[in-house]
Amino acid sequence: MNKFSVVGIGPGNMDYILPISRKAVENADLLIGGPRQLELFSYTEKRELLLKGNYKEILTYIKENKEKEKIAVLVSGDPGYHSLLGMISRQFSSDQYRVYPGLSSFQVAMARIGEIWNDADLISLHGKSLSKVLEGKGKKLVLLTDHKNTPWHIARYLLNHGYEGREALIAENLTYGNEKIRKIKLKDIIEEDEYKLCVMIIMKKEENSTL
Ligand SMILES: C[S@@+](CC[C@H](N)C(=O)[O-])C[C@H]1O[C@@H](n2cnc3c(N)ncnc32)[C@H](O)[C@@H]1O
Repeated sequence: MNKFSVVGIGPGNMDYILPISRKAVENADLLIGGPRQLELFSYTEKRELLLKGNYKEILTYIKENKEKEKIAVLVSGDPGYHSLLGMISRQFSSDQYRVYPGLSSFQVAMARIGEIWNDADLISLHGKSLSKVLEGKGKKLVLLTDHKNTPWHIARYLLNHGYEGREALIAENLTYGNEKIRKIKLKDIIEEDEYKLCVMIIMKKEENSTL
């Protein structure tokens, strides 16, 4: 049986991808991924299928072609943390594919600020409502943002729900040339026009010496 690959490409810079994962991509015939993932491997000049909300079509394509060609599905960060692997594992048995792990964006964000994450709530806000996800959380929060749940929206919500004293760290475009890490009070976060790749960390109140 020809196994297809699900490859975690990490936060996006080639230096942060495992050598074995890179090999899996370079050995494939066809790459499936979003624009950012495909761009990273454009030097391989492989055939590409763009993933952009067309999940059904892509999964059908994999079902029909996985025995004929070597397919690599590229996902950002680690496949086991909020990625297409969720759908894949429901539709295929685990002996039909092989997962190559990657560094998750939240791991890189926590490494950048020199903090542990075993005491944090790890939360992805992708397509979710803030109130459902954030209600009642007391610990350090590590949030993967999206174009609706931006740092500004999250800060507005938290300021109205008992998090006034907290400080946030905003880690943008991790591992890319324009990476930016800011420590900022929730009330000082401003709205920005453009959505950026972003992990937002809300620090524990007691860790906050400056507030
Ligand atoms: C669909 S989730 C995928 C998470 C991924 N599986 C992981 O382990 O990081 C996409 C979110 O991950 C975060 N992300 C991915 N790459 C990033 C980067 N280079 N810098 C900052 N955040 C990133 C952003 O919050 C983005 O909205």
